[in-house]
Amino acid sequence: MRILSGIQPSGKLHIGNYFGMMRPALELAQKGNAFYFIADYHSLTSVSDAAELRANVLDVALDFLACGLDPKQTVFYRQSDVPQVTELAWILACVTPMPMLENAVSYKDKLAAGLKPNVGLFTYPVLQAADILIVQGERVPVGKDQKQHIEITRDIASAFNRQFGEVFVIPEAVIKAEVATLPGTDGRKMSKSYGNTIEIFGDSTKKKVMGIVTDSQPVEAPKKDLDKNIPLQFLKVFAPAKAQEVEAKLAAGGYGYGEAKKELLAALLEYFAPYRQKRAELAQNRDYVEQVLRDGALRANAVVDVTMKKVREAVGLR
Ligand code: AMP
Ligand code: TRP
Repeated sequence: MRILSGIQPSGKLHIGNYFGMMRPALELAQKGNAFYFIADYHSLTSVSDAAELRANVLDVALDFLACGLDPKQTVFYRQSDVPQVTELAWILACVTPMPMLENAVSYKDKLAAGLKPNVGLFTYPVLQAADILIVQGERVPVGKDQKQHIEITRDIASAFNRQFGEVFVIPEAVIKAEVATLPGTDGRKMSKSYGNTIEIFGDSTKKKVMGIVTDSQPVEAPKKDLDKNIPLQFLKVFAPAKAQEVEAKLAAGGYGYGEAKKELLAALLEYFAPYRQKRAELAQNRDYVEQVLRDGALRANAVVDVTMKKVREAVGLR
């Protein structure tokens, strides 16, 4: 089974990225032939500083390797080391109906958030389809917000196959139901663009956790509406036994949200401590990281060239 996923290097990765995408992707990688890449072409739709983009790519590579990506087992590469995806994106664009992209939720959301739309932002899902189809990915582990992009990919692949013959495997999204969307410190979806993230490896974890928004029930009161309590939602994702304990204490009363946040902080620091140490070691060894990405690029290119030969033949190029 071929598995593929990507993540944009558009800023520091946060625990929404980790529990929503990275952890499930790293687990799934044990069960097949995984291709994970850093989507630097995609980031050009929002990052316009070369030094920043390069630094972000290194950060994402360090984050993935520190969190347990095994570069022997998984093909780990930089999207721009496989420039053939831009050729495939063009070919796919020619079988993609305009309205499908006009109706894409993530495009509409970005417009609503005030981003000035460039054509790259509009055709973003076509490049994403090319990423997936070019390695003939069968399973795509992602967070829930990417569901529509995978549906678009399926539609584009089917349209291509109908028009030119069976070239592409139709991929399927793999989405963890229990962490479909992790809330941020303010209760909205955790997202860089809302400034409500807790970074995986930041040094502001304490400040962020203690700043999580809760309601104003007094310390003594047995707490109600616990399904909306953000510290509890986090704990449920990665420390279920601790979550049960904290939930019981909150429900009993005489136990405040401040205490619950302290429990969450301790659990988070403990969970990420080994990864944090690994990351510090890797950061001292950038040549190794660069070597991993170069090796990944070679392995990805071998697969990609096979697909592109079929595609060019099917459509009548060369
Ligand atoms: P992004 O940072 O939006 O590029 O997202 C990278 C990956 O992390 C995608 O697979 C997203 O679906 C996932 N992701 C981002 N934010 C969250 C969140 N708050 N909860 C769960 N998954 C998320
Ligand atoms: N759009 C994805 C995100 O923002 C990143 C991405 C690019 C991706 N290409 C992909 C994810 C291919 C899965 C498969 O998170």
